Amino acid sequence: MPNQHLQTELPLYPSSLWRPIENELSFPPLEESLKVDAVIVGAGITGITAAYLLQKAGVHTALIDARKALGGTTGHTTAKITSQHGLIYESLIKGIGEEKAQEYYKANEAARSFIEETVQSLGISCQLKTQDAFLYASSSSGDKKVRAEYEAYKKLGIPAEFMESTPLPFPVKSAVRIKNQAQFHPVEYLSDLLKEFVSSGGFVFEHTRAVEIDKSENPAITTAEGHKLTSRHVLISSHYPFPDFTGLQFAKLEPERSYILAAKTSRPFPEGMYISADEPVRSLRSAEEDGEQVVLIGGEDHKTGQMQETEKCYEALEEFGREQLDMTKIRYRWSSQDLKTLDGVPYAGPITKQHPNIFITTGYGLWGMTNGTAAAQVVSDAILGKKNPYEELYSPQRPGNKTAAVQFIKQNTDTAKEFVKGKLKRSYEGLDDIGLDEGAKVKVNGQKAGAYKDPAGNITLVKPVCTHMGCDLEWNNGDRSWDCPCHGSRFNTDGEILEGPAVKPLTKLD
Ligand code: FES
Repeated sequence: MPNQHLQTELPLYPSSLWRPIENELSFPPLEESLKVDAVIVGAGITGITAAYLLQKAGVHTALIDARKALGGTTGHTTAKITSQHGLIYESLIKGIGEEKAQEYYKANEAARSFIEETVQSLGISCQLKTQDAFLYASSSSGDKKVRAEYEAYKKLGIPAEFMESTPLPFPVKSAVRIKNQAQFHPVEYLSDLLKEFVSSGGFVFEHTRAVEIDKSENPAITTAEGHKLTSRHVLISSHYPFPDFTGLQFAKLEPERSYILAAKTSRPFPEGMYISADEPVRSLRSAEEDGEQVVLIGGEDHKTGQMQETEKCYEALEEFGREQLDMTKIRYRWSSQDLKTLDGVPYAGPITKQHPNIFITTGYGLWGMTNGTAAAQVVSDAILGKKNPYEELYSPQRPGNKTAAVQFIKQNTDTAKEFVKGKLKRSYEGLDDIGLDEGAKVKVNGQKAGAYKDPAGNITLVKPVCTHMGCDLEWNNGDRSWDCPCHGSRFNTDGEILEGPAVKPLTKLD
């Protein structure tokens, strides 16, 4: 059966509400070797913020991206600038203790203030709006979680208010509100920051993929075209770090996908940003498209590569929108990928003790606007030799804790299972079984292949094996991609890389 979008006006491939503006900015690929003070890999919120901060402080910086700047997770977020991260503080207290949980809150609040002050000082027009953030529950189990989270807020001194109703157009059992948080248009904000970076002498190179890193005192990045970027400091802010070192980052990160609709509703959406404590989680906020209100409806998170019928994720959000918010029309729909760390706190700092000038930032747990900004501040301060109060909290080498250790074992077991499961699976279909705009693993001339049949019936075949560490890929029917269940690499139907850590495209088959 063809996918549902064929009967709607939505584009074939999911696209984000934030993305169209990125076309205004364009940068050339790197075409020669270059020496600078700092190299940043990955032009999302962390890479751009760190580049801006470093260049402003006189560190000559080059920022590279394998695709377009702002084309990754930052261009696909719900763009809430808040330290209310769903159900997190109760679990942080259990995992890392009260003191560190409070630091996490403060780091995210400091990041929120940084964004607001930067918008003001540079005069950026990015739909920045102060909003209260609500964690709400409609179910009894959600209600218990909201109450427990509120108790955690009280322990940590987080200023919040317990409520038995919200401005939402459907009833809730309970909610906790943190006042004066914010929302914005992330691509408008970061495009201006990028322009500021370039006008103060920074370099940006798009379509420049880093494939290797030389770990010497003056680390050099080698690009897919063979050019070298030599520097004193390297920051890898490309989401899943492409090199692993001995830091075992691959084993310490769990890739997760989530889904968002931007939709029109027949009645106005109220003020505020919302996230549910109920399962499945729903994330809500309003935004503007050409001066008119749209509502962002997010949720349906799952581990990357562990769900094939992802079209159903969009359908579930659509059903929620129709039933609860009087949704009339979907304007955009898209998905995004983020990584979770073992203890719920991002990694930002030197990748290992032996490599103090090679930094990573990753693992924002779906809260990249504040965590990503905080990570950029931590790393740029380290490069500038300044003490940052959250350096230890975010350190990739922080000592493990019990919860994290259990999670570590579970995750490696899951990854190993995915690897073995993929290798043993033998349920390959034939090419004729594939419908229009569908993909599947097939056998062609006795060889296994990943096949996609486009709406016109043209077939593309790739080798469905991840080029990172060899796990079998799974078809993702909502986003029309080949996804890796092991560490989250994703490839389009032609085998080109959509998400790392893979640095090589898939082999195309005839
Ligand atoms: Fe690591 Fe695919 S992303 S094996």
